[in-house]
Amino acid sequence: MKIIKAKDYQDMSRKAANIISAQVIMKPDCVLGLATGSTPIGAYENLVNWYQKGDLDFSGVTTVNLDEYKGLTRDNDQSYYYFMNEHLFSKVNVDPKRTFLPDGTEPDSAKACEDYNHVIESVGGVDLQLLGLGHNGHIGFNEPSDIFKAKTHCVDLTETTIQANKRFFASIDDVPRQAYTMGIQTIMQARKILVVVSGAEKAAIVKEAFFGPITPKVQASVLQLHHDVILVADEAALAELG
Ligand code: F6R
Repeated sequence: MKIIKAKDYQDMSRKAANIISAQVIMKPDCVLGLATGSTPIGAYENLVNWYQKGDLDFSGVTTVNLDEYKGLTRDNDQSYYYFMNEHLFSKVNVDPKRTFLPDGTEPDSAKACEDYNHVIESVGGVDLQLLGLGHNGHIGFNEPSDIFKAKTHCVDLTETTIQANKRFFASIDDVPRQAYTMGIQTIMQARKILVVVSGAEKAAIVKEAFFGPITPKVQASVLQLHHDVILVADEAALAELG
């Protein structure tokens, strides 16, 4: 694993965007695996900025997102589709027909997951997967568990995640209880993985995930087994590494 130390959130965002940008320049028809959450927002801002300056072209890019809440429509402002559209898709020249997320409106979980696995296979897998890191070590919505789940599956969100996400909803009752997420095997099959982490409150989990035992209790710990992982984190998030 390569660790790139950033000064602060802004610096982390620029460094992460540089890596994504290099991927798009080197392989204009690449498949980007994308994440939502607060951490990648600054990286997306940089990408939009560079696109507007004419330095980046997304016309050949395909995107597959990690996850989507079950039960939220695309026009719900808390859906991950809405988030991606707000922060990236509507602001660059990516072909909307080549931006994929699990279908949160599909009530049949087995079908939603099977369809999404098929999408990922049909685009040829992921070239560069962007990941944030949950406080409990989750990646995508792969929550602490006794096992690693391979493919796309429907998860019951943990209390910690529901609590962490409630800031985005009018009330805690509005936070969806389930989500569809890419599985660990699919994430691990990405040819390159870029993890972005910021802030002191993630320092303990950064240490546990990247230097602790590999265990499904800390799903991100499996990334230690991937051959090409780049962790871009700010000083606060790296503070416990010594
Ligand atoms: C988002 C996702 C989550 C987040 C994680 C960190 O698509 O799958 O795993 O990356 O919860 O979220 P933030 O960046 O808000 O701390």
